[in-house]
Amino acid sequence: EKGGFSSFMDKEIHDQPQAVGDTLLGRFDTEGKLSLDEMHIDENVLKSIDKIVVVACGTAAYAGQVAKYAIEHWCRIPVEVELAHEFRYRDPVVNEKTLIVAISQSGETMDTIMAVRHARQQGAKVIAICNTFGSTIPRESDAVLYTHAGPEIAVASTKAFLSQVVACYLLGLYLAQLRGNKFRDEIALILKELQTIPEKIQRILDEGKDQVLELARRNEDVGSVLFLGRHVGYPVAMEGALKLKELAYIHAEGFAAGELKHGPIALIDDGQLVIIVVPSKRGRDSLHAKVISNIQEVRARGANTVVIAEEGDEDVREFASEVIYVPETTTLMAPLLTTVPLQIFAMELATAKGLDVDQPRNLAKSVTVE
Ligand code: M6R
Repeated sequence: EKGGFSSFMDKEIHDQPQAVGDTLLGRFDTEGKLSLDEMHIDENVLKSIDKIVVVACGTAAYAGQVAKYAIEHWCRIPVEVELAHEFRYRDPVVNEKTLIVAISQSGETMDTIMAVRHARQQGAKVIAICNTFGSTIPRESDAVLYTHAGPEIAVASTKAFLSQVVACYLLGLYLAQLRGNKFRDEIALILKELQTIPEKIQRILDEGKDQVLELARRNEDVGSVLFLGRHVGYPVAMEGALKLKELAYIHAEGFAAGELKHGPIALIDDGQLVIIVVPSKRGRDSLHAKVISNIQEVRARGANTVVIAEEGDEDVREFASEVIYVPETTTLMAPLLTTVPLQIFAMELATAKGLDVDQPRNLAKSVTVE
């Protein structure tokens, strides 16, 4: 069943081109316009919403955080992302005009189920983004958009994460399309770029994997790892840190790179491993330059800097102990690529330590208790 791979996680990392491709499949009409009729939700409801709140846990919540950047940019609707267990036990402002997006691979996460119930009691509409057909969360939601990642067995979520980001992007673009936002041509271009992602992930697996395996093996004894990113690279950093915690039992933190000087930089001393997710040079304003200067800051204090950057980005070399290149894409699509080396890194480091990557200690694949 592992298809010749040493673990389910390794297999599922390699399933990602297909998982992304399948999640895109069948969601366009003949003119290439997005059609999500499968959601069975009244278009007028979607047109009237004035806020989106994503509720989810763990990796699924990081997918929501990535999506926030995209949906706000495309739709100009405010998006909040909240851990389901926090949402449930405060007094959140939600009403008929709120769209709740509940993201869950299993569809059985009790914290997220409780958040969905709570939101519906307040009159909010709920769309589930889920990987498990007919599970509780889709059944209790008003509509569902399935991720088509196929079964995910390993406790650590990999292909579900990428598919969740893709499904959220489809939802965001659909809302933009529905609400008649200005940028019709831009939507077509974004969809076109999205369709190149499976092949770009495949290139990382074919051409970049060995370098990351090597890097992980060399760092088998590392005591702590910091991950830095800005914009969509920030949730990617947190996802990279989570993978390392749960698989390799290593202390790891993901920070917004801009936050460094507000505290975390005090952690940096000689040899500290810092992994930095660098945005595209062709992307938004000065984001790239800002991250480069963050790399310089930690480097100057002795950090061992591993940089994830876009192919062709030579500016990062000077300050990097090692650069891992991923194919070129747009700023918003980059998480679908930059996450992959971080997954491989955590998997291999855990393997090098002799740990079971499919069944890490103390964890369950689906958390069905609150
Ligand atoms: O099934 P769900 O997507 O609702 O699960 C949510 C989290 O429990 C899950 O993503 C968890 O954080 C993973 N073990 C992360 O790899």
